[in-house]
Amino acid sequence: MIFETHAHYDDEAFDGDREQLLRSLPQKGIARVINVGASLETTKSTLALAENYDFMYAAVGVHPSDIADLNEETYAWLKEQTAHPKTVAVGEIGLDYYWDKEPEVQEAQQEWFRRQLVLAKESRLPVIIHSRDAAEDTMRIIKEAGSWETKASHMSEEETKVPEEEAETVCGVIHCYSYSPEQAKEYVKLGYYIGVGGVVTFKNAKKLTETVRQIPLERILLETDCPYMAPEPHRGTRNDSSYLPYVAAKIAELKGVTAQEVRRVTWENACRLFGVE
Ligand code: NI
Repeated sequence: MIFETHAHYDDEAFDGDREQLLRSLPQKGIARVINVGASLETTKSTLALAENYDFMYAAVGVHPSDIADLNEETYAWLKEQTAHPKTVAVGEIGLDYYWDKEPEVQEAQQEWFRRQLVLAKESRLPVIIHSRDAAEDTMRIIKEAGSWETKASHMSEEETKVPEEEAETVCGVIHCYSYSPEQAKEYVKLGYYIGVGGVVTFKNAKKLTETVRQIPLERILLETDCPYMAPEPHRGTRNDSSYLPYVAAKIAELKGVTAQEVRRVTWENACRLFGVE
């Protein structure tokens, strides 16, 4: 079974066949899906999907490119959504300097990133981090935020199947990881998971394949970021969670284990981080 940790099934790319596609996923071995909000609008549509499908869960949050959505009133609304029974994370939140080069815009991104980290901390949820062309500032802000015990890490030994003395603080995932192997190892030390998707199958993905080789499988999560980032041999087409076996197979090859082992360990990783069984 596969745990898909990052999908955008509310995207218009799925308007033509959303219901049919989602209903088919469990039969294709995709047994859990986290749909990720990126704005106020998509946080709403994400929660609606999670309410409609047993196997779907929600991350609520505003992406750095959509922070114009945020003010005190909408922040308060977002806070309320962290209490929804299907909400398992705050995300995707973070920094994206690829499009926004102006210092004032980048400062505003940092401010709302910090505040949404506080939101996660207060609601004891893990975070899903988006970071592009902003390696240094992301690391700094994450370090400043520190770590916190999530609801999942608070579960009893019996619930988590992790002996109490081995339980550690896990507070999030760096989604669609694109930085150096050295930084990945630093994030792992800080208690973060590394999200790996279709990019790992691309020919020019040297940095990411090296990262996967160097970090423990116990800290990797499978994700698509669909409809984007379809793996080879489907690169450039609409992505969906049924393509995750290509990603698992590539990780297996890099780690020298079976694809079965990759599915099993990443499944357990996701259950542990998001507190989902
Ligand atoms: Ni995303």
